[in-house]
Amino acid sequence: MTADLIDGKAFAATIRAQVATHVARLKEEHDLTPGLAVVLLGDDPASQVYVRSKGKMTTEAGMTSVQHLLPATTGQDELLELIATLNADPAIHGILVQLPLPAHLDEALVINAIAPDKDVDGFHISNVGLRGTGQRSMVPCTPLGCLMLLRDRLGDLSGLEAVVIGRSNIVGKPMASLLLGESCTVTTAHSRTRNLPDVVRRADIVVAAVGRPEMVQADWIKPGATVIDVGVNRIATPEGGTRLVGDVDFAGCSAVAGAITPVPGGVGPMTIACLLANTLTACCRVNGLPEPDGLTA
Ligand code: GUN
Repeated sequence: MTADLIDGKAFAATIRAQVATHVARLKEEHDLTPGLAVVLLGDDPASQVYVRSKGKMTTEAGMTSVQHLLPATTGQDELLELIATLNADPAIHGILVQLPLPAHLDEALVINAIAPDKDVDGFHISNVGLRGTGQRSMVPCTPLGCLMLLRDRLGDLSGLEAVVIGRSNIVGKPMASLLLGESCTVTTAHSRTRNLPDVVRRADIVVAAVGRPEMVQADWIKPGATVIDVGVNRIATPEGGTRLVGDVDFAGCSAVAGAITPVPGGVGPMTIACLLANTLTACCRVNGLPEPDGLTA
């Protein structure tokens, strides 16, 4: 391996510590406690683990954590009523509805029912529009975490060639928008992209977010490039067990890249750290207080 390992786990711990320090100060100086409400429908085990971990880290950062675990059969009106209640609750500064939602619910309608100021996912159309026009917005947690890692590694990103593989609303599109905001030359590649290896070979920065195990190969990577792997895929091992891999062939690509994130321990921990940072940011904004430095885009 020649690439430097980008330790997202350690970096996320520093972000969470920064958030906790600022939260303590808010409490002391303004008697304010940021509050995060997470809503999960259904009993998908992976989502339950993820939501529980979000709750634990929220509390550890000194913030209030509220969780609404609802049956998968919850109706749209009931969910919209809950969101309206959370929108009106002054103790709640951030609202996250875990996606994907059960098929009978209208995801866009639900997301756009969240008050934009409390939309710590940054998925509301107001936040998408603000971000797309270079205005202050809430920034989606996973792309924000990737951006923090890239800035930490590379400093000024302007003029760099960035290729984002994947065009989801959660990662690919906001990631491309953030990199454009950093003055990168951005290409968004996807399943219909022709000659994907050639496109990726141009990149100083590769962000892989497609959900295809180990798809990005070593000979796609420009020597010295920075590779950010957003993928989390569980694959079978020859021994009959399973293991987590990213969208990047880590062993191969780490022999060519300049720096690379591992899976697990790369982008994943940054997502939760950024959720806490966004909740703090939302609390500061709604109360007209200065935002902590370095915790948003
Ligand atoms: N499901 C997978 N990633 C996310 C995320 O960042 N936010 C929400 N709300 N749901 C998700």
